[in-house]
Amino acid sequence: MTLRAATPAHWPVEQALSQDNDVAYWTTVPADLDEGAARARVAAWIDRRDEGRGALWVIEREGNACGQAGLVISPPAAIEVFYAVLPSARGAGVAGRTAALIAGWARRAGYRQIGLATFPDNVASERTAERAGFVRTGTTERRIKDRAHTLTTWVYAPAKRPVDGRSSHSG
Ligand SMILES: CC(C)(COP(=O)(O)OP(=O)(O)OC[C@H]1O[C@@H](n2cnc3c(N)ncnc32)[C@H](O)[C@@H]1OP(=O)(O)O)[C@@H](O)C(=O)NCCC(=O)NCCS
Repeated sequence: MTLRAATPAHWPVEQALSQDNDVAYWTTVPADLDEGAARARVAAWIDRRDEGRGALWVIEREGNACGQAGLVISPPAAIEVFYAVLPSARGAGVAGRTAALIAGWARRAGYRQIGLATFPDNVASERTAERAGFVRTGTTERRIKDRAHTLTTWVYAPAKRPVDGRSSHSG
């Protein structure tokens, strides 16, 4: 699995994700983006990265793009992680490993407030968050796609056990 910094050429991944009902339902990605809208969203993420406000990566498995993940930076130093995987690649640990990689990198980069937010009942995302080392902290009110939602909030607080499930102790 490889995370690649998103480039303008990655717009088809954004479009493919927007065509998935789960992504349209559980995330801020609008449904059924056309090429222009997908290009614009990826370009906006590249602008955010250039301005130090966020980052977007394309997740590749065996050379094929299979999802996206990223982070939003809120001044002064809070990070919110997000992830989405195409249906054909789900259930193989991709999102859990990706979220753990991004959160671990952010921690090593000096960020101490690393969180994420999930829709209630998004069990797959909740399990992914737990798998990656996040724990629930409470709820937050957000307006998403013109509707008010109460989201579950999480903070990165990894236990000693790494994401692949093996003990970190040798004996
Ligand atoms: C949530 C999502 C990213 C998970 O991707 P994934 O690569 O299939 O997840 P993983 O294989 O890494 O699974 C991580 C954990 O979640 C569990 N899980 C995954 N899908 C699940 C489902 N539909 N129901 C219950 N548990 C699920 C896995 O079993 C695993 O737990 P485990 O390690 O204890 O076995 C994917 O379903 C998706 O893109 N959904 C739509 C977009 C979305 O909801 N994004 C998150 C917004 S907050």
